[in-house]
Amino acid sequence: MFDEIKKEFPIFENHPHLCYLDSAASSLKPRRVIDVMSDYYKNFSCNINRGNYQLSYEATNLYESARSTIAQFINADADEIIFTRGASQSLNLVALSWGMQFIQEGDEILTSELEHHSSHMPWLNVAQNKNAFLKFIPLDAEGKITVENFYNSISSKTKIVALTFVSNVLGYVTPIKDIINICHERGIIVSIDAAQAVPHMNIDVKDLDCDFLSFSGHKMCGPFGIGVLFGKKKLLEKMNPLEFGGDMADEVNKFFHSYKDIPHKFETGTPPIAEVIGLGEACKFLQEIGLEKIYRHEKNLSEKAVEMLSVLDDVEIYNRKAETGIVSFNIRGVHSHDAATIYDKNQICVRTGHHCAQLVTKFLGQYSTTRASFYFYNDSKDVERLVASVREALEFFKSL
Ligand SMILES: Cc1ncc(COP(=O)(O)O)c(C=O)c1O
Repeated sequence: MFDEIKKEFPIFENHPHLCYLDSAASSLKPRRVIDVMSDYYKNFSCNINRGNYQLSYEATNLYESARSTIAQFINADADEIIFTRGASQSLNLVALSWGMQFIQEGDEILTSELEHHSSHMPWLNVAQNKNAFLKFIPLDAEGKITVENFYNSISSKTKIVALTFVSNVLGYVTPIKDIINICHERGIIVSIDAAQAVPHMNIDVKDLDCDFLSFSGHKMCGPFGIGVLFGKKKLLEKMNPLEFGGDMADEVNKFFHSYKDIPHKFETGTPPIAEVIGLGEACKFLQEIGLEKIYRHEKNLSEKAVEMLSVLDDVEIYNRKAETGIVSFNIRGVHSHDAATIYDKNQICVRTGHHCAQLVTKFLGQYSTTRASFYFYNDSKDVERLVASVREALEFFKSL
């Protein structure tokens, strides 16, 4: 079924030879997502929630119905879905609102070295402001978070556990359900960075029983500039908004204001309306294809890539047991940015650098790594082209 899928992505009409292996940064956008957004501008264009006319009522319905679609995509209730600019803003909202309100001096915030900067830095900031402790679960030799190491890291002072569901560098899947169970037996809150999980696997927040879950639209066939924070109702209701003003206000007097209920109290001002509708469409698209199938397809591709790269001398792979569609590697003695010039010449898009996760790069003892990330519009030809280019880079740089 994936043979025909490239036709759904207009970018391949303009770039027929594109080998796009950077979906962990941002996925490509299918026609139907682009179309619903442009339809919004062509047929509505107006603001929501404030116009007393038919066009605005309909626009509001479209927007709120997209919220319901997105909620259903992760099995949440619609009022538990807060729209943000992206996973970074969602993760910051948890730390700046819940964290600054409920973390106290001496409390422990437990995280890991696998975190993206957007999952780590907001908690470092809270810890510094509140004289709390930021603690790290030791990774195992491969770089994974294990339940055993997690268990040994919690204490009676642990207030919140903030972890990535899937590492954006190594693609490892955190045993998050077991971790959440252990946390909830002790009254510890769990915030999950699911930016690399929601686009690739079935996520059911009720089954996981997580307290907060953050993700971005642009990594899951949706638009840029839209992200989601899921939060449990009882937590969101107790949290203070971070921004004040239009649309979130209820009653406003000179020296008193009140605001709307969740989720609106966290959504100040005019929202990115077309982007929300676009993300709703992306959820429908992914659901129609099936997350199980997507996950298996990209895992097969990354396993094939690992197998083929493994036979090349001087290629160091950092996640030999690929658990998702991510493969991270380097050519020994060649800076990944230099090698990337060869991949780019061959129209292969990969990401090199620290991937906004410097703790992981440091754990690997590197300054920079190459990441190929597969999605369902990739196929085995893409793997072969990548490996051929790595071979070319090896021959070129080693002959210098
Ligand atoms: C694991 C992870 N968390 C958070 C983010 C931040 O996402 P955004 O840039 O969309 O805010 C990313 C983006 O690469 C990511 O991979």
